[in-house]
Amino acid sequence: MNSLDEQPELAEPYLLGFLSSVGLDVEYTRAEGNTLYYEDPGHGEVAVFDAAGGYGSLFFGHNHPEIVGLAKDLLERRAPVLAQFSRHRDANAVATELNRIVHRELGSDEPYFAIFANSGAEGIEAAVKHAELDRVLRAQEIAGQLADELAATRAAVLSGDAVVPAATFRELGVPEAAGMTGFAALVAELDRRNAAASGRPPVFLTLEGSFHGKLVGSVQLTHNAAYRTPFTALAAQARFVPHGKPGALADTITAERRSLRGLTVRHGTVEVVEHEFPVIAALLLEPIQGEGGIVPVTEEFAQEIQRDCAAAGIPIVVDEIQSGMGRTGTLLASSAIGLRGDYYVLAKSLGGGLAKTAVMLARQGVYRNEFELVHSSTFAKDGFSTPIALKVLSMLEADGGRAYRLAEERGERLADALHKVRVEFPDVVKDVRGRGLMLGLEFNDQSESRSQLIRDGAQSGLLGYTLAGYLLREHRVRTFPTASAGNTLRFAPSVFVTDREIDQLQDGLRAVAELLREADEARLTGGGATAGGAG
Ligand code: F0G
Repeated sequence: MNSLDEQPELAEPYLLGFLSSVGLDVEYTRAEGNTLYYEDPGHGEVAVFDAAGGYGSLFFGHNHPEIVGLAKDLLERRAPVLAQFSRHRDANAVATELNRIVHRELGSDEPYFAIFANSGAEGIEAAVKHAELDRVLRAQEIAGQLADELAATRAAVLSGDAVVPAATFRELGVPEAAGMTGFAALVAELDRRNAAASGRPPVFLTLEGSFHGKLVGSVQLTHNAAYRTPFTALAAQARFVPHGKPGALADTITAERRSLRGLTVRHGTVEVVEHEFPVIAALLLEPIQGEGGIVPVTEEFAQEIQRDCAAAGIPIVVDEIQSGMGRTGTLLASSAIGLRGDYYVLAKSLGGGLAKTAVMLARQGVYRNEFELVHSSTFAKDGFSTPIALKVLSMLEADGGRAYRLAEERGERLADALHKVRVEFPDVVKDVRGRGLMLGLEFNDQSESRSQLIRDGAQSGLLGYTLAGYLLREHRVRTFPTASAGNTLRFAPSVFVTDREIDQLQDGLRAVAELLREADEARLTGGGATAGGAG
């Protein structure tokens, strides 16, 4: 077939049908700054304010001239893009610069080693794999200690230097027997119990409402059951801790704790000893949950997490994929709430809107050199994305950190506009949340609306997409609901967002609120689309 329009739809055709049912099946042809353009036949190019910002990947906007300039230069001078298994100075420079900034924000100087990846979920899975390798190696160390202890105890019993008292048999529920027969029965019982504890799959902790990706491992750390439950058989499971509920994390940790038991000699008698066994490989969290509805972690909750994890020896993986890279006024949104991670994962805006890249940072104290020999990824740490990431970091740090200050200042201006809509429509708008340029506006539940179409949309959880379709069609604003919290619209524009664009969004949101208040389904759908009825 020669004409585009004659081609069958083969690239996710069902999804395209859904987009078209809500008026979001627009094909963009050009992008610059905060603007996406499409061609309207007969009317020419139409400009759309992109408040979705590539789901938070466009901190410096679409096709920033400095980043485009660097990309062109790399291609023109035939920079080696794929030269795996060689020295990568740019990757090292990215790691060095990240360390410098992270140290400044954390007030520490412990190095973080960097493992590169190609997407957010891949970065998360690198952290998960590293934490699991560390757990397995720690478990082996404990098993080694137990074996040494047992060998010494056996020798003491054999030589007559130690005896097994009745209490030890009772403690393990083993019938008393003399000499090595009794000792062997104790060891068999310990082996049975220890195998049950150490043979369990690892447990990962994360928060209710979390989103850490949709690959085989990371989707099990993502709270939304629709994404997760068909695939539970494929990977280790997470325990989801209620967000912000005091004491809940400690209770979960206590419930998961296991210990291994061994035998040792004390004052000539054989006693049972316990060794804590690492069951929980890591806790993962987003400092501000994104896909789950723009829900920030409070300073108090961050402190509780830090304290409980330190007490139980559980490493913390901070997922800064969406919240990081300056979006909230610091490189790490977590540093502003006093949270210190053992691991960090950055992605999205790290690639400057052009490259697909991610990085996992692991603190020296938890780092295992062995990881570098068992983990790799063909395209990671490549010669195109790493210079771009370095450029992005230099743009963040330029002029004494002007971009961070701008993110904060523009974020306040945008939040102000959202709050005005909330104040004007308290019956329609429930909440405004977030920090910097990672903001959300939550509507009240519309499942009791007078309009059947709005009611149906609300009940199916897809009304937000109809609102997005309306905003695009009537106000030339692009935004989406947070997928797992469909009543919340998300805003993550670039740092260059203008007052005019914010006003345009505010006008659009006021109109949406008005239509929801009036239950005006005809104007909401432009007479054509449906409220989330998938095509
Ligand atoms: N972690 C967080 C906090 C994210 O927001 C995302 C993606 C990922 C991990 C996975 O990254 O898509 O590059 O594999 N969030 C998008 C969203 C999909 O809707 O905000 P990925």
